[in-house]
Amino acid sequence: MAFKKSNFAAATALFAIGAKAVNNGLALTPQMGWDNWNALGCDVSEDLLVETADLIVNYGLKDLGYKYVILDDCWSAGRNASNNNTLIVDTEKFPRGMKAVADDIHDLGLLFGMYSDAGRYTCGMYEGSLGYETEDANFFADVGIDYLKYDNCYNEGYAGNQQISSARYRTMGNALNATGRPILYSLCNWGEDYPWNWGSTIANSWRISGDIFDNWDEYDARCPCEGPDAWNCELPGFHCSVTNIFSKVAFIVSKAQPGSWNDLDMLEVGRGAMNDAEYVAHFSMWSAVKSPLIMGNDIRIIKPQDLSILSNAAVIAVNQDPLGQSAARRWLYQTNTTDVDENGKAEIQMWSGNLKSTISADYNDYVVLLVNGNNNATVMNATLEDIFVDSGPKGTAPQVQMSWEVRDLWADRMSNETAAAIINTPTKSGNATTGYNATTIGQGRYNATTTSYADGLMANSSLLLGSVVTTVQPSGTIIANVDRHGVAMFRLRAIPTAVRKRDEL
Ligand SMILES: *[C@@H]1O[C@H](CO)[C@@H](O)[C@H](O)[C@H]1NC(C)=O
Ligand SMILES: *[C@@H]1O[C@H](CO)[C@@H](O)[C@H](O)[C@H]1NC(C)=O
Ligand SMILES: *[C@@H]1O[C@H](CO)[C@@H](O)[C@H](O)[C@H]1NC(C)=O
Ligand SMILES: *[C@@H]1O[C@H](CO)[C@@H](O)[C@H](O)[C@H]1NC(C)=O
Ligand SMILES: *[C@@H]1O[C@H](CO)[C@@H](O)[C@H](O)[C@H]1NC(C)=O
Ligand SMILES: *[C@@H]1O[C@H](CO)[C@@H](O)[C@H](O)[C@H]1NC(C)=O
Ligand SMILES: *[C@@H]1O[C@H](CO)[C@@H](O)[C@H](O)[C@H]1NC(C)=O
Ligand SMILES: *[C@@H]1O[C@H](CO)[C@@H](O)[C@H](O)[C@H]1NC(C)=O
Ligand SMILES: *[C@@H]1O[C@H](CO)[C@@H](O)[C@H](O)[C@H]1NC(C)=O
Ligand SMILES: *[C@@H]1O[C@H](CO)[C@@H](O)[C@H](O)[C@H]1NC(C)=O
Repeated sequence: MAFKKSNFAAATALFAIGAKAVNNGLALTPQMGWDNWNALGCDVSEDLLVETADLIVNYGLKDLGYKYVILDDCWSAGRNASNNNTLIVDTEKFPRGMKAVADDIHDLGLLFGMYSDAGRYTCGMYEGSLGYETEDANFFADVGIDYLKYDNCYNEGYAGNQQISSARYRTMGNALNATGRPILYSLCNWGEDYPWNWGSTIANSWRISGDIFDNWDEYDARCPCEGPDAWNCELPGFHCSVTNIFSKVAFIVSKAQPGSWNDLDMLEVGRGAMNDAEYVAHFSMWSAVKSPLIMGNDIRIIKPQDLSILSNAAVIAVNQDPLGQSAARRWLYQTNTTDVDENGKAEIQMWSGNLKSTISADYNDYVVLLVNGNNNATVMNATLEDIFVDSGPKGTAPQVQMSWEVRDLWADRMSNETAAAIINTPTKSGNATTGYNATTIGQGRYNATTTSYADGLMANSSLLLGSVVTTVQPSGTIIANVDRHGVAMFRLRAIPTAVRKRDEL
């Protein structure tokens, strides 16, 4: 069906109203933090949370923006019938109660998140919140939480279409709102019933798939639907690989916006089953599509190379970009069938998207992501025509006729030695804040506590802009040799002379 121009304008206006983000003022850029689930599952305790919070501060992660410390499932011990059915905290795991934990986390300048479930039980078979939304929202507000992850197990069949699922999740959203406490609301219904269509009016993020596992591209029947046309998946499943989830976000990138984000699930960086190139790629991909960046590794045993990935401020600055627009897939090729990996996969893809300009009032910066799923390092090419296709098809975009700085966002990655020094400097005790050498930890690193990513970008912080590796000329091509299961990630910045000459184009 062809839209007349006027119809199209009307449709766009309606869409803009329908897509309005939830009005709690939170997650204007994607939330960042840590959640215990991927690494520790139900093995939760007060000591785990307090010690991890301490390390997040002392490894400089807090000052990169990782603010939310999130306690996942398995923390409760039933409801108290003689106290308005309030949830009971498991005092073996949390001997001082939950408020004390929240206070400790807040004292460190961090924020505290908790977990519940829009069902009879949580996924770990603890009490769920379905039917107790008001009681539980009040409990959470009393504890002083700043974030709620809200799961989908044992939902008693209240699913199957968008009205039913959205109503179930909206009930908790309303209950949280009624407490008056700003609480970031993170929907976790695994992409069931198209949460990207309704989540933005209720919540700050919504999961788009079944649970991630620590794997690059292995097919697992429990997480069906993947590949170039992996959309419309009715069975979210679990055990989803990094590339499986990434293929699912390709169709809904336009749903990401300030205040409400597509959530590709927690990070697997540092969990141990993928190699360094794969973790670099995973972190870059999640950043480029504006997924929340929630670390899922055990910070107490973090390795230097993983701290180095999680600390890359130039990549985080893409995730935290003030425009809040997701990159989009421009092409995907299933490649050389003789070069497949052990899982039978070989595909390459190019994504690009707008970043707020750091140089020109007329042209945005741009992120370019080349993802190599081949079994071997591959020379990959991105033409300006493909990168800027949104601004004009078939090379008609004005940006194609300009020259661009190509800035490698991984060029200045922290060395293993520096990361090891940060990890090894302190004497670790449960409470080591004063034992750390702040100079060592802060040396050469971006500090988002003192300067927001938005301000740092506008001030040309070299820690955020990456290193210029080449210049691409009008109608040119960016060429990169990309590691097996790796990425090349660039920020393009208009070259000033070209900007000044734009009227002559
Ligand atoms: C249940 O609530 C009652 C009344 O507030 C209180 O005395 C009791 O300690 C609570 N029980 C538990 C296990 O929290
Ligand atoms: C509750 O919702 C109203 C209306 O959308 C909004 O103005 C207010 O900021 C919200 N309050 C909280 C605490 O989320
Ligand atoms: C396909 O992969 C094989 C094995 O890596 C390689 O020898 C061959 O040159 C590749 N062919 C093309 C067209 O890239
Ligand atoms: C491609 O990778 C495989 C497995 O790592 C290796 O055995 C092979 O030599 C590589 N081929 C090329 C052309 O590099
Ligand atoms: C990229 O371009 C080079 C030539 O510059 C070519 O050899 C190579 O095959 C191209 N790679 C891909 C993946 O298209
Ligand atoms: C950092 O350490 C990892 C793991 O030992 C290693 O794979 C990687 O090559 C190292 N990086 C550098 C730049 O030395
Ligand atoms: C941490 O420090 C506080 C304040 O100094 C102290 O009260 C608490 O006992 C310490 N905790 C641990 C586990 O050392
Ligand atoms: C902290 O580290 C810096 C450089 O890494 C060093 O110059 C300084 O002496 C250290 N301070 C202490 C108290 O160890
Ligand atoms: C970041 O800046 C804050 C405020 O000045 C400071 O307290 C903190 O130690 C800095 N963080 C790092 C890692 O240097
Ligand atoms: C940032 O760098 C660009 C290009 O060098 C320059 O035009 C601009 O004035 C710089 N902005 C600031 C705030 O230094």
